Amino acid sequence: MDELLQQIETYRSEIGSIVPNGAEALEAYRIRFLGTKGIVKNLFTEMKNVPADKKKEFGQILNDFKQFAESRYESWKSAARAGDGTGTAPSDGKDLSLPGDPLPLGAHHPISLVRDQIVHIFGRLGFSVAEGPEIEDDWHNFTALNLPENHPARDMQDTFYIHQNPDWLLRTHTSSVQARVMEQQKPPIRIICPGRVYRNETISARAHCFFHQTEGLYVDEDVSFADLKQTLYFFVQEMFGKEVRIRFRPSYFPFTEPSAEMDINCRICGGSGCAVCKHTGWVEILGSGMVHPKMLENFGIDSNKYTGFAFGMGIERICQLKYRINDLRLYSQNDVRFLKQFTSAT
Ligand code: PHE
Repeated sequence: MDELLQQIETYRSEIGSIVPNGAEALEAYRIRFLGTKGIVKNLFTEMKNVPADKKKEFGQILNDFKQFAESRYESWKSAARAGDGTGTAPSDGKDLSLPGDPLPLGAHHPISLVRDQIVHIFGRLGFSVAEGPEIEDDWHNFTALNLPENHPARDMQDTFYIHQNPDWLLRTHTSSVQARVMEQQKPPIRIICPGRVYRNETISARAHCFFHQTEGLYVDEDVSFADLKQTLYFFVQEMFGKEVRIRFRPSYFPFTEPSAEMDINCRICGGSGCAVCKHTGWVEILGSGMVHPKMLENFGIDSNKYTGFAFGMGIERICQLKYRINDLRLYSQNDVRFLKQFTSAT
């Protein structure tokens, strides 16, 4: 008995002085003291040699010791999990089993979301995407589009000219891409041109010196104004929902004849009148018309055989109606709190 009690005391003080360093040392401790052939188990097998009247007392001492050995093991193990360097954690204190911090991700810009949706809708109608340069020459931006020099309609768009060469400018509309496409392709032509355009405007909530457009062009035999209407009606139904209403107002563009602007019933107030629709219930979203025969001829397309329609819309305006964004400056401030609010509607 005395010998056994002595041994238990020695083990206790041994355990008291152990500082297990790393996962291996902790496991070695577990095997040595708590394993199936470990010290605690062995001490219990000694019970059979203990005289009957001492069994109870000895049993209690043994149980105490067992609990002591186990509780030391558990506290080392949880300290190791917390990464304080005493247990399974690597010696530099980092616990590689912890889940990582998520990387902060950006978000799609609302302009990109709406542009992609426009591309997707027209894509289903067979329109493919065409692109052109943002620094344009006078011919593609104006003259080829039936806007010769000194034409009063040039004043409709306040143009940024390039200092070194006044024949160069920042494109004022993506109609310049239509000109480039007609230069290179023969009918049938069915394209949309999304892109950034520039106009010399004072920056405010309602105007900016750059914005985004998507223009479309369809040239083939027998293309009619009815095709234009139906195509644009389909587009707004896909973009805003089946119940959207449209109206066309006669307008003027030098490159289309006849020309029309298209309004939809206001998505903000539903038509009852608000600041966005200037209390009319209608919001203009695009300009359109039948391609002027002179423009077709400018590109060697026979205007007796082919007709076409064209349209152009501002992406910011569609965004405003879709997401209720009332200040154009928000689009270019790159504030993530603004940008993170939008998710794709497609
Ligand atoms: N280019 C015109 C604009 O920027 C829009 C438009 C395109 C109108 C095609 C008619 C046809 O305002």
